[in-house]
Amino acid sequence: MKRHTFLLFLSVIIFSCSDTLSKKEIELFTEQGNLIAKGTSEELSGKLMAKMKEGGIPLAVEYCNTAALPLTSKISKEEHVSIKRTSIKVRNPLNTANKEEIQIINKFLSMIDRNVPPKPLVKLDLSGNPHYYAPIFVDSKCLICHGTPDKELSRKADSIIKTYYPEDLATGFKEGDLRGIWSISFP
Ligand code: HEC
Repeated sequence: MKRHTFLLFLSVIIFSCSDTLSKKEIELFTEQGNLIAKGTSEELSGKLMAKMKEGGIPLAVEYCNTAALPLTSKISKEEHVSIKRTSIKVRNPLNTANKEEIQIINKFLSMIDRNVPPKPLVKLDLSGNPHYYAPIFVDSKCLICHGTPDKELSRKADSIIKTYYPEDLATGFKEGDLRGIWSISFP
């Protein structure tokens, strides 16, 4: 990921006076966003799967609870960006979507309704920073923690999750659903 950071800074310096993004900048930030989202996702899911093997759902949920946000902050610092995973139906209220993120999620949902697959996009946010957004989809591995209660999500798993997250909204998803988005800002 780091190799690309230099290129990115160069582009920020060159283009920082403009109030719109050029095609080239959009390409660069999209490439950088894709790399950061992929790297973060692999690190999260690799560790999550290891915890599942080691101690099943209780240990894996405890891992998400104590490590997901610190991990995204650690990578944010390393990459000089701000990484967030958010959704309309959040598990952790600290991941709640802001107005701009809700707009993007709704845009992705309406594309899905029209059978158009949503893709990563980059635009300037309200703070004037280039901002990368990308869809996060549900696959079969997610369902034991985000599926339908009493079906894929066992009653036991649901109750463990509810002890950490009494206001959990992130259940009832099906394979292929939009779970949420990556929201990465480049300050
Ligand atoms: C072992 C249970 C478990 C599995 C499996 C799991 N998650 Fe989660 N997920 C959690 C927990 C716990 C949180 C809350 C993390 C936190 O405190 O930030 C979470 C949070 C999230 C968030 C952040 C938004 C929110 O709701 O707070 C996203 C996005 C997400 N999960 C997507 C996925 C996807 C996609 C998969 C499958 C590839 C997946 N999860 C698999 C337990 C799980």
